[in-house]
Amino acid sequence: TARSPVITIDGPTASGKGTVAHRVAKHLGFHYLDSGALYRLTALMATRHGIALEDEAAIATMARTLPCRFVHGHVFLEEADVTDAVRAEEVGVAASRIAVLPAVRQALVDLQVAFRYTPGLVADGRDMGTVIFPDASLKVFLTASAEARASRRYKQLIEKGISANMENLVKDLMERDARDSARTTAPLKPAPDAIILDTSELTAEEAVSKVLVWYAQTQTNNAV
Ligand code: CDP
Ligand code: CDP
Repeated sequence: TARSPVITIDGPTASGKGTVAHRVAKHLGFHYLDSGALYRLTALMATRHGIALEDEAAIATMARTLPCRFVHGHVFLEEADVTDAVRAEEVGVAASRIAVLPAVRQALVDLQVAFRYTPGLVADGRDMGTVIFPDASLKVFLTASAEARASRRYKQLIEKGISANMENLVKDLMERDARDSARTTAPLKPAPDAIILDTSELTAEEAVSKVLVWYAQTQTNNAV
């Protein structure tokens, strides 16, 4: 039996993965996996329980039975609504620290694979096309200049009423890119068969259209 189709959207922070993946999923009526949220939830839980971010065994154990729920756009961790808390930039930084630990990545595999069911899935993250869904129908790798990405993040934070400092944002983002790209397990890099899309000069809508056209092409290719 054919498995449900998957579209993977990987890339560095603020390249537009979440926005593009969510809209593509909506358009196709597919499920959506924000894999970064799982790393963020694991990091947040470790912090809240006073577990050191280097304690691989303890964090992997937690990740294996992560007590989270996704309900109508809200995220719950141990019954607490953490929708805003998980998006905080320091949680992103903590997530990138635990994401280097192989046992933690392994512990989150089953949870991610379970999002793949009929009619299909759009998954965003760092290793969706390289490790988690290597047989995806379409793999996209989004990029954008560090300046474009930092100013997008800045705008998002200000709109949410959270104060932000452009200099710190650029610093955090470059530090996170470096850690994500340098790690040995599932580093941030395009799959050999990924299409690379630089969104520095594109609107989110333009990026969505490109992904939808490429996906439609994979469908006609299969039909021939
Ligand atoms: O998930 P990721 O960190 O890659 O990015 P995001 O959370 O989707 O944030 C990207 C932000 O940049 C959103 O506010 C988008 O509206 C905006 N944006 C985009 O996603 N794509 C563009 N081509 C231009 C802007
Ligand atoms: O939205 P943004 O791109 O800022 O971050 P995210 O996608 O929520 O991911 C937060 C951190 O989790 C990343 O910096 C990665 O270190 C890690 N991550 C990962 O290692 N593998 C994934 N598939 C997704 C996220």
